[in-house]
Amino acid sequence: MGIRMRFFSAVLAVTLLAGSVRAQSAEPKTAGQTYKNIIQLKGTPAGQLVSSMQFIASSLGVECAFCHLQGKPELDDKAPKKTAREMMAMQSAINENSFAGNRQVTCYSCHHGSSHPANMLPVLTSDAPAQSEARPPLAASVAPAAADILENMPVLWAEPAP
Ligand code: HEC
Ligand code: HEC
Repeated sequence: MGIRMRFFSAVLAVTLLAGSVRAQSAEPKTAGQTYKNIIQLKGTPAGQLVSSMQFIASSLGVECAFCHLQGKPELDDKAPKKTAREMMAMQSAINENSFAGNRQVTCYSCHHGSSHPANMLPVLTSDAPAQSEARPPLAASVAPAAADILENMPVLWAEPAP
């Protein structure tokens, strides 16, 4: 192989390499380039937008229609869609600030299949009414019982009665 030939094949290799790099980086379109009204998910690969939506819907335990008018997902008519954008921004701020940019916190972390996440430990909220119903009124049962004991067994009472 002559020096000239070697030079040409090197140029060819570099050209092919550059071409394939360019082809690769241009290939996956983003959601921002493909869909009509994308603000938060601009950088998401277009092919992942619908699966992100499915993830959101099941995280909140809702249907697409909770946020979208049927057949017009680009419209912003529904309040939950706007809230969802705020939630997306909050979620990326949490992940940026507290998890080195890793997607540790997602819609599911808080929502767990409900559109309104519980902000109280379920055991506390469910126990509270049950306890107050179950506990007998003090004056009716507990207090007389204690009084009975004191009356019937005064010797056990160390301090003198007032
Ligand atoms: C909790 C609200 C919510 C639910 C549920 C939801 N979406 Fe979305 N969807 C959004 C938001 C917010 C955007 C805009 C995202 C942005 O601004 O980057 C969006 C955007 C879209 C878009 C892009 C529309 C366009 O052209 O701009 C499509 C398509 C879409 N959603 C489909 C779906 C499908 C299909 C489902 C059900 C599997 C679904 N969505 C469930 C909130 C939701
Ligand atoms: C750090 C916890 C947290 C995360 C993460 C989170 N949410 Fe929320 N979200 C909440 C809380 C709390 C509420 C309820 C606020 C209220 O009751 O007023 C809520 C309410 C909502 C609502 C309003 C529901 C309604 O009935 O109008 C939507 C829509 C929503 N979130 C979407 C999302 C989406 C989409 C994501 C993921 C991108 C997300 N949330 C991530 C905590 C979170």
